[in-house]
Amino acid sequence: VRRTQAGDLILLISADDKKFLLKLAGEGELHTHQGILQHESMIDVPLGTVVHSHLGEPFLLLRPTLQEILLNTKRKSQIIFPKDIGYILLRLSIGPGSTVVEAGTGSGALTTALAWAVGPAGRVFSYDSREDMQALARENLERLGLEGRVRLIVRDIEEGFEQRDADAVFLDLPNPHDYLAQTREALCNGGTLGSILPTTNQVAQLVRALREHGFQSIEVCELLLRFYKTLPSRLRPEDRMVAHTGYLIFGRSLHE
Ligand SMILES: C[S@@+](CC[C@H](N)C(=O)[O-])C[C@H]1O[C@@H](n2cnc3c(N)ncnc32)[C@H](O)[C@@H]1O
Repeated sequence: VRRTQAGDLILLISADDKKFLLKLAGEGELHTHQGILQHESMIDVPLGTVVHSHLGEPFLLLRPTLQEILLNTKRKSQIIFPKDIGYILLRLSIGPGSTVVEAGTGSGALTTALAWAVGPAGRVFSYDSREDMQALARENLERLGLEGRVRLIVRDIEEGFEQRDADAVFLDLPNPHDYLAQTREALCNGGTLGSILPTTNQVAQLVRALREHGFQSIEVCELLLRFYKTLPSRLRPEDRMVAHTGYLIFGRSLHE
């Protein structure tokens, strides 16, 4: 049986399906709409069991999934959403031992997923021109103990990347078309560039620039994720959905 320890990141789900993500610390308290829970009473407890608030309300105690962790990212910028991150990881083929470069770091949601995926043998190099963004991303990574896999670099990528021969580069900033020369220098021959953009105008600009810079196998897509109400007798989609996050663009860099 797996039990919780001090320092673990845990997820509590209330009877009305509200989720709370927290790091267990000896003295802490969690205040919820259904009462208070003492951190101490949740340490050395088997995962997958029910704990109770001071009002006697039940909470299911679980280990959070990466999706729940990403949605809980402390943010100062728009983050990339898990539905897009999942496909980005596959499309860039990020796995144990990969070397990946990204800009900008922002709040570090993608950085977190990249660090998770590259494992202890991989490396993530993450650039942002704003030091305050990287401070927040560092905090988010440290919460998960993933900071050792990431080098955060404060720099405008106009000046280029320090890395060469990277497996993949991901650009999440408004004008990726301006940095394709820098991206090609950082990528290995045949390496994959990925980007996310909110408007079709920006996508058209990027696709044009990708062609000019000789990128091959260019792909543009968007992902729509529709959740369903989980009532077997009335199985149907939720009334509302997130209709738009961003367009995803990919291409392969070839050296001359
Ligand atoms: C939307 S945020 C990135 C969000 C991030 N992918 C996430 O999932 O949390 C865009 C970031 O790009 C940075 N940025 C914009 N232009 C840049 C440039 N030329 N060089 C470096 N960083 C830049 C901004 O400071 C901002 O923090």
